Amino acid sequence: MILLITGTDTGVGKTVTTAALAVRATGSVAVVKPAQTGVAPDEQGDLDDIHRLSGLTKLHEGIRLRDPLAPTTAARREGVRLPPVAVHAKAIDELARTNDTVLVEGAGGILVGLDAEGNNLADLAAHLTTPFGFVVVARAGLGTLNHAGLTVEALRSRGLPIEGLVIGSLPAEPDLAEECNLEDLPAVTGVPVIGRIPAGAGSLDQEAFKAAAPSWFE
Ligand SMILES: Nc1ncnc2c1ncn2[C@@H]1O[C@H](COP(=O)(O)OP(=O)(O)OP(=O)(O)O)[C@@H](O)[C@H]1O
Ligand SMILES: [Mg+2]
Repeated sequence: MILLITGTDTGVGKTVTTAALAVRATGSVAVVKPAQTGVAPDEQGDLDDIHRLSGLTKLHEGIRLRDPLAPTTAARREGVRLPPVAVHAKAIDELARTNDTVLVEGAGGILVGLDAEGNNLADLAAHLTTPFGFVVVARAGLGTLNHAGLTVEALRSRGLPIEGLVIGSLPAEPDLAEECNLEDLPAVTGVPVIGRIPAGAGSLDQEAFKAAAPSWFE
């Protein structure tokens, strides 16, 4: 099974969610970040965070770009040619042959381009031959109903399967909007909330993260 982790925006908690999904998964797990932007060659990327939180070692970064921008923009500025999404899809299918679960973390939200032709994570998914589903990470608070609705609509219009929504960071004491959204997100999007990552989860040490992560999912 391949899970593609997208989000309603950048910074919504895709990386922490991916680490938690890696802990929850049974059997062998590999994680792929097709395009990592905003880090220099010697800096820590999202896969380093996933390793720190989950202890997972099967981590595959497709391409790394220095500027904290969308991959197509960062690549243009660096004069780098991005690999076509079909190349990423082939590598992901290959990993799925030898692993029970492959988690793929996108860059930013669903319509962000991952290659020179502007193909995005949805286009990448269309190349996969292994069964897959999307996980949509969303913010907890005011505004998330629209952003989650738009993301779900974009996936549905392409006929792509959605496993569920995950709240990337839920405060211990939710405000009124955060509380109401837990009920309204499934109603508005037609997709269940399958996970709630507590705020602060990204700062836990590995032992605490691994102990708690399974309880964050339905
Ligand atoms: N549940 C959480 N607890 C604590 N910190 C969190 C949580 N979720 C996200 N963060 C923090 O918020 C920031 C953004 O989260 P994260 O890096 O997971 O976003 P992202 O959706 O993966 O963004 P990107 O598009 O850059 O990959 C990070 O600094 C992360 O540590
Ligand atoms: Mg991330």
